[in-house]
Amino acid sequence: MESIDKPICIITDSHVGALYKFSFPTLCFPAGERNKARAIKEQLEDALFEKGFGRDLCLIALGGGVTTDLVGFIAATFCRGVELINIPTSLMGMIDAAIGGKNGVNSPFGKNMIGTLYHPAKLVINPQFLETLPEKEWQNGQGEVLKYALLTGDDLMQMEPQALIRACIETKLRMIGDGVRDLLNFGHTVAHAIEKVSEYSIPHGEAVMLGCKVEAALTGIAVDEVQGEIPYCPSELLTAMNYDKKGAKKFVALREVGTPYRELKTYPDDHIIKTLEETICAPSTHRT
Ligand SMILES: NC(=O)c1ccc[n+]([C@@H]2O[C@H](COP(=O)([O-])OP(=O)(O)OC[C@H]3O[C@@H](n4cnc5c(N)ncnc54)[C@H](O)[C@@H]3O)[C@@H](O)[C@H]2O)c1
Repeated sequence: MESIDKPICIITDSHVGALYKFSFPTLCFPAGERNKARAIKEQLEDALFEKGFGRDLCLIALGGGVTTDLVGFIAATFCRGVELINIPTSLMGMIDAAIGGKNGVNSPFGKNMIGTLYHPAKLVINPQFLETLPEKEWQNGQGEVLKYALLTGDDLMQMEPQALIRACIETKLRMIGDGVRDLLNFGHTVAHAIEKVSEYSIPHGEAVMLGCKVEAALTGIAVDEVQGEIPYCPSELLTAMNYDKKGAKKFVALREVGTPYRELKTYPDDHIIKTLEETICAPSTHRT
């Protein structure tokens, strides 16, 4: 990487931070989705001031999607905006979270409800980081892979990591360039409700997989490769869908695999509840 003529600070989470020795000032926050939060942002900002950083800072986000979302938001607002370099280390980060400039934190009202659009000056993708990624985190990344596959009809699931990362990034950038970035939210209305209701015990990638299954089923498309049930009742999930950046209970919808509708759709509550019952909600949670 070319040299950077600015004070540098790396921000990473406790899992990734433990894997490396750093020769630049580094701040570490506790790993996990629950820490993608306003309180952690504030603590990190105060720590940056205590270390004497200011407007000329270059912030490096090193980690998964939680880190790139949180640090991207800090970079956008610290001293009204400082240079940002994204170095994603999870599959989720490399194929989605670190691309496209969206950042943010969760609030008690819902997922990613506070944030900005702020592009990194540089993005460094090195698949070697994946060598230490736990298998379950690789599987989590597959949630967004499934989203891309259903939106495009491309056969992505069996690809080698390097080709997969390239294909997903190209798809995301193409959709942003075509002005249809909101379609990348396919599966996410339900996914964000699952994350919120489970208090983030169900990770984003797994929630997106389940969300893709439900949102495809809303227009009659079966995604049989996604199995599994969750112990949350459909009406609770429906209520959680009221707090969504797209607006309450709005969905990206598929006409067929590879062909999403351009406009967001709404459905009657009964149809959503019935679809949740038929796809992912355990029988014990169903209406009697
Ligand atoms: N901004 C966007 O456009 C966008 C897109 C998709 C997802 N996201 C966000 O991304 C987040 C999920 O990302 P994630 O799944 O990467 O979660 P994460 O950042 O929590 O990472 C998952 C786990 O893997 C660990 N990890 C990451 N890289 C590692 C490595 N190389 N070796 C060992 N451990 C490693 C992390 O410490 C963490 O424990 C969610 O908050 C989601 O909302 C944002």
